[in-house]
Amino acid sequence: MKRTLGVCYYPEHWPEPQWEEDAARMAALGLTWVRIGEFAWARMEPVPGAYDWGWLDRAIETLGRHGLQVVLGTPTATPPRWMIDRHPDMLAVDAQGRPRGFGSRRHYDFSHRGYRGECTRIVQAMAERYGRNPHVAAWQTDNEYACHDTVLSYSPAALSAFRDWCAQRYQSTDALNRAWGNVFWSMDYDRFDNIGLPNLTVTEANPAHVMAFRRFASDEVVSFNRLQTEIIRRHSDAPIAHNYMGRVTDFDHFDVGADLDIASWDSYPLGFLSDRLEATPDHKRRFVRQGDPDLQAFHHDLYRAVGRGRWWIMEQQPGPVNWAPYNPDPLPGMARLWAWEAFAHGAEAVCYFRWRQAPFAQEQMHAGLLRPDSVAAPAHDEAAQVARELASQPEQGTALADVGLVFDYASAWAWQTQPQGRDFDYFRLVFHIYKGLRRLGLNVDILPPDTADLSGYPLVMAPGVATLSDSLLAALAAHQGQSIIGPRSNAKTIEFATPVPMPPNLPGLNATVMRVESLPPDVPVPLAAGGNLRHWREKLDTTAQVIEQSADGFPALIVAGGLHYLAGWPDDVALDRILTAACHRAGLKTTTLPDGLRQRNSNTHRFWFNYNPDPVEWEGITVPPAGVHWQAL
Ligand code: GAL
Repeated sequence: MKRTLGVCYYPEHWPEPQWEEDAARMAALGLTWVRIGEFAWARMEPVPGAYDWGWLDRAIETLGRHGLQVVLGTPTATPPRWMIDRHPDMLAVDAQGRPRGFGSRRHYDFSHRGYRGECTRIVQAMAERYGRNPHVAAWQTDNEYACHDTVLSYSPAALSAFRDWCAQRYQSTDALNRAWGNVFWSMDYDRFDNIGLPNLTVTEANPAHVMAFRRFASDEVVSFNRLQTEIIRRHSDAPIAHNYMGRVTDFDHFDVGADLDIASWDSYPLGFLSDRLEATPDHKRRFVRQGDPDLQAFHHDLYRAVGRGRWWIMEQQPGPVNWAPYNPDPLPGMARLWAWEAFAHGAEAVCYFRWRQAPFAQEQMHAGLLRPDSVAAPAHDEAAQVARELASQPEQGTALADVGLVFDYASAWAWQTQPQGRDFDYFRLVFHIYKGLRRLGLNVDILPPDTADLSGYPLVMAPGVATLSDSLLAALAAHQGQSIIGPRSNAKTIEFATPVPMPPNLPGLNATVMRVESLPPDVPVPLAAGGNLRHWREKLDTTAQVIEQSADGFPALIVAGGLHYLAGWPDDVALDRILTAACHRAGLKTTTLPDGLRQRNSNTHRFWFNYNPDPVEWEGITVPPAGVHWQAL
């Protein structure tokens, strides 16, 4: 597989005479891809129905003339102001019932039929015009679904679509009442038209109602995206991508990904560390200019799965961003390290965001590869270095990983809906396990929740999966290796009820969760062998072999055959021991990497990434601070 670099560019932000020089500099830098168009609807269609394609034709032509390939974005994340006059009710509505107004972006409701019609029209016009353009070599649908908390809308459009969705799913209100347990507080409905959205209730809404609404909202994103891919495919053979985000679980990315050729994501390591990660102040301080050593890799592995092997970085942080609570400057070397780490995890392309820093509007404090005065910013030269390095080893692929780790979006919704303890967050749990695996130097594949074949993986993990799918249960029953399920896995039915037989109800494992408890941060449950369970622990009744036990005498990790159940959320000390022992049983070699040093194998090389601000000596090599080292396998 060939690996390439690119950049995000906004020709509509710059005077046209500048484009030529920009394109020449991009080509000289060694870039292959330029993503354009995703926010330019008001320039493509300044007044309703009157398209202005001239500037876009010329921009694509200019880039193409310099040998650059265009990723063309559909502009549906930024409908022009006139659209609101046409469809005043197309704005999403927040949980308090307030419309989310015009003046930034993503001001639309996924369920609004009129807005979907407008999207169909603009995407059709673009696909007809550019579908066979030789320079348009890929497409991007919309921009960052879910950004700015836009998946859930409590609008009249959402309400009416939700009622239809319920009618289709349950067929009768009797069935819906039974499925949701509406008898509980006399919440029964006798017509689908009586069903409301689960906001503005006196106290918490029925969790089954909330879960249905979350599934519905996710399906709306899927069908909105599909509307676009179906049109583009009728006119173009170029692959279609969407740019997903970091730590966003508001819709099922696997479902959206099924309609796309490539998954891509937007990687802002310093923004994420500051804004989206539970970590100690020491950790945040140590990695403030580098980012968390595992968060990027987690998303690389996740989106490789969402893209069924094909994935990109569509936006790579090039310097300080503008949107996090604090926006430090990356250490010299990080813009290179982040790109190489993506390639080591199988990325086909890494595109920096953005070419030139904007001197106006919301993101004027967000760095680019160039300063606003067009002078090269530090990441420009780091990108040039990556381009040179790629030229000397352009081809590489991924190999099957050591460990398969299941990730399930519906479980994120389930545990948000009824966390039972403030700190029980699904992403946090899965990421905690992922970090443990990476500390041991392991390569991880993330697996969708309906995975039917686990045969290549010596070790499989499925923490926190609310409902294990029939296919995954069958695959676990057939699996020859080791697997660790839990905590809180198979704990709900698909309609968010407690199943009987009681959880975890796993094939061949005689165990019942008798009691669960959530724990305040300063109340750990010590394990007999050291370390603790934190946040969450379960008390098991079992005849299976007990591998780990709590100091107060309850089984914490049990096994039958290769199938384990983990009855709590282990801290780092306990997790390292549990994973090391499981890897030993699985025949996997582990190591204990120094803090901030991570490794990853491609099919031909092993890479080391030093996220530390100091050099690291390891197995006879020295990896410089914010540096990368690789050697052939
Ligand atoms: C992304 C978005 C870009 C830009 C960038 C700034 O979330 O897709 O358009 O806003 O963040 O970091």
